[in-house]
Amino acid sequence: MKLLVTGGAGFIGSNFIRHILNKYPDYHITNLDKLTYAGNLDNLKDIDGRPNYRFLRGDICDAKTVSEAVQGVDAIVNFAAETHVDRSILEPGSFIQTDIYGTYVLLEAVKAHGIQRYIQISTDEVYGSIEQGSFTEASPVMPSSPYSASKAGSDMLVHSYWKTFHLPVIITRSSNNYGPYQYPEKLIPLFITNVLEDRPLPLYGDGLNVRDWIYVTDNCAAIDLVLHRGKEGEVYNIGGGNERTNIEITEIILRELGKPKDLIKRIKDRPGHDRRYSIDSSRLVSLGFEPQYGFEEAMQNTVRWYRENEWWWKKVKSEDFKRFYKKAYGEVEW
Ligand code: NAD
Ligand code: DAU
Repeated sequence: MKLLVTGGAGFIGSNFIRHILNKYPDYHITNLDKLTYAGNLDNLKDIDGRPNYRFLRGDICDAKTVSEAVQGVDAIVNFAAETHVDRSILEPGSFIQTDIYGTYVLLEAVKAHGIQRYIQISTDEVYGSIEQGSFTEASPVMPSSPYSASKAGSDMLVHSYWKTFHLPVIITRSSNNYGPYQYPEKLIPLFITNVLEDRPLPLYGDGLNVRDWIYVTDNCAAIDLVLHRGKEGEVYNIGGGNERTNIEITEIILRELGKPKDLIKRIKDRPGHDRRYSIDSSRLVSLGFEPQYGFEEAMQNTVRWYRENEWWWKKVKSEDFKRFYKKAYGEVEW
């Protein structure tokens, strides 16, 4: 198979490329990525140079670049997006542009070039918050942030291209990922690297918001399964089955690194903060999905990876990151 992976220099995309090339050594991958602040070629250092992998720097919003990138391709897996909720609250424009308009450009390319499969990587955040029970794929979308609204918008477009043009599309909606190569603006890598630097941990509100955590390689395996065995026109929830409060996650990180709880700094709540995410993944399970990693083991792997790979995250936590951090968490010292 020849795949076009968009956004493959980011966290999940780079883990997915590694997963696919290790499992299917005869597959070819083109990675089209704009290299925004979140894109990082260090994430694929071990892959670069393989004859069946090529990197193209470019924007999914640019139809000409996309039409060059799709030449000879069997399937597209679209990870490219602006992804951080806090940034979408500060500056939403690029979220609408990339997540919605960029998806439209890719769908047009699927139509024009007769691509056989298009996988849209979406998120459980499109459903919004749920106090009790779990969302199924039939639940209505009710996004709370400009980020999740832009992802819901792209899901609607993908669905419309299925209904109107019968394009071979599938949507995955995964829960919160964690693991190696995650940009340290997200809860788990931010808190691990802050603890390693003895910086305060900015915890929103009462810390009792709940997320369902999935180890990134389990999400990659699920996307692989959907790519090969999923049904066109369907949505697949991909949950980890590990619901934890933010304070529980914080305490695990402090315990693993042997640091005191007084590093926790409670801050004013995130505007529009979703209380709880929970999804029902039975449709994916009926395709044969089983997560390979237990939560405790995968959290230990993750903490160890950041401890052993300072070369990776010290570069990323640069001046640019510091500027964002000060804007987002004005009250917290850097
Ligand atoms: P990320 O922010 O780490 O990476 C995004 C990548 O997209 C970067 O490499 C960036 O350079 C690239 N990109 C951004 N705009 C682009 C554009 N216009 N053209 C080409 N490339 C562009 O994101 P991630 O956490 O790896 O998330 C990947 C996908 O998975 C996203 O669509 C996100 O919405 C979805 N998702 C993420 C999570 C999570 O927990 N991280 C959970 C569910 C779904
Ligand atoms: O659910 C899937 C989504 O998970 C993805 O679609 C998004 O791309 C990804 O960013 C993530 O969104 P969240 O908002 O859930 O992730 P984040 O890591 O930003 O926050 C997780 C929880 O931790 C949330 O309740 C807010 C809280 N938090 C986060 C940060 C960064 C804090 O309390 N302090 C922080 O500094």
